[in-house]
Amino acid sequence: MSANIAEMERRREAAQMGGGQKRIDAQHAKGKLTARERLEVLLDEDSFEEVDTYVEHDCTDFGMQDQKIPGDGVVTGSGTINGRLVFVFSQDFTVFGGSLSKRHAEKICKVMDMALKVGAPVIGINDSGGARIQEGVASLGGYAEVFQRNVLASGVVPQISLIMGPCAGGAVYSPAMTDFIFMVKDSSYMFVTGPEVVKTVTNEVVTQEELGGAVTHTTKTSVADLAFENDIETLLATRDFFDFMPLSNRLEVPERPTADAWDREETSLDTLIPDSAYQPYDMHEVLAKVLDEGDFFEIQPARW
Ligand code: HXC
Repeated sequence: MSANIAEMERRREAAQMGGGQKRIDAQHAKGKLTARERLEVLLDEDSFEEVDTYVEHDCTDFGMQDQKIPGDGVVTGSGTINGRLVFVFSQDFTVFGGSLSKRHAEKICKVMDMALKVGAPVIGINDSGGARIQEGVASLGGYAEVFQRNVLASGVVPQISLIMGPCAGGAVYSPAMTDFIFMVKDSSYMFVTGPEVVKTVTNEVVTQEELGGAVTHTTKTSVADLAFENDIETLLATRDFFDFMPLSNRLEVPERPTADAWDREETSLDTLIPDSAYQPYDMHEVLAKVLDEGDFFEIQPARW
């Protein structure tokens, strides 16, 4: 019995440590939080209920049978944001670059299924090199299952993707199907494959930023909705944004008490919009004066 408990404790500790201290330090050195630290910032204190902590991959090719880490590169479960339920997955770049194995995909699918069943949003924290190369077609099949759930959940529960590292392949195709995408400047990227592969295949030299950085995707392609300075800013903004959303298509938008009287008069609105259609004015000012307490969360402000 005590041997079983000791084994359980070993696995719990291994799941907490992901790819090990050296890789955690490397993650921090890049200004990035770990998968678990991100969930701590995103969710209400002590609200996270983890599932599938001890799941491991079942690949036996390329010596993978000797490289198993409990959790298999993704932390999944549910929690609350300002008291409201949300399902989450957070990919761990320290474990095989956060790449998606069949089992890793099954973990994500399980929380997506639960979210659809109870009618609550899904927030995916993506920090992944895409399909796990060692697993070949098994990992591609895993992505097919995730994509199908992205489609089934579309219009039913909100899906938000936070891109918080170099994301390639399926780790980009799935977020692209979700409702909102937030990125982190200078540490997150969305591309079909990385610059090294692009150079090998096409001989083209391109930087990660040009290929799919936060500025590229919020100004030129409009793939992403917002870009933030760092992980913490991104996660805290997501908490604010979450407050504006209904939990599912079966519920109304949340109502919050406000001290802003419904009949507040804004006489400045009489003159704020110029008589001449050729004279510019600041729409932000109009919104700030019209909305309750000027509370406005802007999407795609940097788009050209
Ligand atoms: C297995 C991977 C991996 C992957 C990264 N790693 N991506 N392992 N499968 N897809 C591992 C690396 O080998 C390395 O392991 C560790 O993660 C960190 O990666 P680095 O390359 O050292 O980090 P970095 O320089 O920051 O570059 C990150 C990266 C790059 C840009 C994501 O790793 C990259 O280009 N990876 C390949 C991306 C790719 O082509 N993915 C497409 C998969 S196909 P060690 O042990 O050295 O620390 C796909 C199609 C889906 O997703 C279609 C579905 C139908």
